[in-house]
Amino acid sequence: SWSMGEFVNKEIARIRQIVGPAGHVIGAVSGGVDSTVAAKLMNEAIGDRFHAVLVDNGVMRLNECENVKKMLADKMGINLKIVNAADLFLDRLKGVTDPEKKRKIIGNTFIEVFEAEAAIIDKECGGEIEYLLQGTLYPDVIESISFKGPSATIKTHHNVGGLLEDMKLKLIEPLRELFKDEVRELGKILGLDDELVWRHPFPGPGIAIRVLGEVTREQVEIARLADHIYIEEIKKGGFYRQISQAYAALLPVKAVGVMGDKRTYEQVIALRAVETTDFMSADVMIGAEWFLLLKRISSRIINEVKGVNRVVYDISSKPPATIEWE
Ligand code: XMP
Repeated sequence: SWSMGEFVNKEIARIRQIVGPAGHVIGAVSGGVDSTVAAKLMNEAIGDRFHAVLVDNGVMRLNECENVKKMLADKMGINLKIVNAADLFLDRLKGVTDPEKKRKIIGNTFIEVFEAEAAIIDKECGGEIEYLLQGTLYPDVIESISFKGPSATIKTHHNVGGLLEDMKLKLIEPLRELFKDEVRELGKILGLDDELVWRHPFPGPGIAIRVLGEVTREQVEIARLADHIYIEEIKKGGFYRQISQAYAALLPVKAVGVMGDKRTYEQVIALRAVETTDFMSADVMIGAEWFLLLKRISSRIINEVKGVNRVVYDISSKPPATIEWE
């Protein structure tokens, strides 16, 4: 009978066969389950001839680069390079408020930065990079064939056509026959931490689409800290696994509040938490215990995040609302 353990051995053998004894492979990692599992599989198959690249786009979660470095490089032994391109991304996002424009800017800048890095790494290893690793799953394969809806834009992030043509790279997609639950199982077999295996998805454009309106460093920091507190409390409260995706967004409005004997006029954080299996439709997380936790989270955010005096909970389902606000 077919098992994930067999899959690992077969896939490692297949990768070794494809790449050969001297070939090198490059791939972007994000800190998410799919790219980490794919990277771990490559590392098992060809060791340091797999080059993982993490592009810091300036809109990632709090301490994300350090955490990915600790996990992938230090703990899992993956050959990882972190490219700090935060300034470039944030400069290009200046003055931009349209959600799709933000996505395009981030997607295009990502490709540009990643391509430049790929060229550098290729030079360093004597022009031996032949393959580009992608953590594509089976639903992505199906979707890119049959579905041209709003999430077609999701794929712009992964459009690395230039690399494939200019550097003459070929694609390697070890997860392309797997569903998400199978990738998690694979992650467990490969020894990934539970924390990583069960991590909520995070959009490529990151906090840029969770800071509504213009994305500035200051706004990103507010959204990032609020989100960090939110997720930390969700984990402490034991709700993380039940929730499919949760995050904090910074709304482009100001609200009146009162602090001591002074009137305040500050920003508003919206909390989102949904349950879903396929992310095509989603239900808002509800429950008495959950609401008590939300109340505590609200006071923590208002106390600890400077510039915020109000927290609201988004109770919309998808459809008609989407999971993200932008
Ligand atoms: P929506 O907001 O469309 O989101 O209900 C469905 C799922 O897709 C994620 N998402 C994205 N992921 N790039 C990504 O990589 C994007 O531009 C993007 N937009 C939404 C979202 O976080 C949710 O998991």
